[in-house]
Amino acid sequence: MEVIKEQFEYYSYPSMEFLSPADQELMQKAIDQLDHAYAPYSHFHVGAAVRLKDENIYVGSNQENASYPLCMCGERVALYNAAANQPSVAPTTLAITIHNQNMKIEKPVSPCGACRQVISEYENRHQQPIRILLKSDGPQVYEIRTIADLLPLGFNGTFL
Ligand code: THU
Repeated sequence: MEVIKEQFEYYSYPSMEFLSPADQELMQKAIDQLDHAYAPYSHFHVGAAVRLKDENIYVGSNQENASYPLCMCGERVALYNAAANQPSVAPTTLAITIHNQNMKIEKPVSPCGACRQVISEYENRHQQPIRILLKSDGPQVYEIRTIADLLPLGFNGTFL
């Protein structure tokens, strides 16, 4: 038996001001999206903004439904928005922020498993790592350099 260890690095910034102006702009657009979330059931708002290689930005927020399994995550709305508008341009950075109306969450919250799988699909589609920026109510921002770090041994189209 062999034990295989994979290392995972991510970067923590004390606040948005430590990000590049482009990343600050992207995170601000994600924050603005918190007001567009439709989350009457969970009261958990998610805002997202994706920057493409040509510098265009597409946004999204979570959209819930009385039939709970139909709820769509904010990250996916943003990525699908980008892919529907500019299918051949690679996403380079995805900013995600959350706000739970029932409690304050200080630490950055990272995307759910389904969203990790979808982000991975777009990385593979364009052969371009997608940087992920995460922020919650607190000032701290996490940066993850590729979704592969959040989805080790991921399933992808090469198996099909
Ligand atoms: N949600 C997201 O938008 N992204 C995630 O990564 C996790 C969960 C949404 C789905 C639902 O509207 C609410 O947050 C609570 O799960």
